[in-house]
Amino acid sequence: MEFDRVLASRRMHRRLSADPLPLEKLAPVLLAAFRAPSAGYAQGTELLVLCAEEDRRLAIDAVTTPGWLEAHPSHSSLLGAPVIVIPIADSAAYAERYSLPDKAASDLASVDRWPLPYWLIDAAFSTMLLLAKVTDSGLGASFIGIFRGEEELSRRFHLREGQRPIGLIFVGKIDSREGGGSPERVERRAPDSRIHLGRLGVNSDTALHDYIGKL
Ligand SMILES: Cc1cc2nc3c(=O)[nH]c(=O)nc-3n(C[C@H](O)[C@H](O)[C@H](O)COP(=O)(O)O)c2cc1C
Repeated sequence: MEFDRVLASRRMHRRLSADPLPLEKLAPVLLAAFRAPSAGYAQGTELLVLCAEEDRRLAIDAVTTPGWLEAHPSHSSLLGAPVIVIPIADSAAYAERYSLPDKAASDLASVDRWPLPYWLIDAAFSTMLLLAKVTDSGLGASFIGIFRGEEELSRRFHLREGQRPIGLIFVGKIDSREGGGSPERVERRAPDSRIHLGRLGVNSDTALHDYIGKL
């Protein structure tokens, strides 16, 4: 698919079919995540890929409550989606990378010295590329945040100290293009309210804003 079409058509699909995903569809989606940049090329993001039904159930049970489905009926088909990918951010990989001689001057060998948790940023970059590749492949995906049960999830799937799962990505074939979600309830913000030239809060009429307004 052409890149602009990927951008325009990417969205979260909450209605996925239970059909299995052939490896030739799944593998390129996973590999796309590793084209993302990472601080110092630390490459700390790893992917936990759950295809077996028992594993998917273990993951869902760890991070949801029994009332979850009643509260989120649009998520019911996600339970049958054939694959869950869990991107894992690993702070230890950053400490290790920044202990190497070429990074010694940065003084970032200890993770408490980092101004922001770049391992989470890098995992988000990887997630975004994976989601874009899902769209490019004609598949659907839904990213669900982890609001509870992170420790249980980590224990069940043997995550190490410093590794954090950043969310669950359900991947599968698109069953229906209807899928609920906030964009059905919230207006898309106008780009010129989000692009600030020179200073925040100063949105003078500019050629750039005029140009974008006509696109
Ligand atoms: C960090 C993050 C957490 C999210 N968590 C959830 C979630 O728990 N449940 C859900 O249905 N969607 C979740 N979403 C999806 C957003 O609701 C969705 O991306 C947003 O409404 C925009 O819709 P679109 O991605 O279809 O364009 C999450 C997205 C992000 C980036």
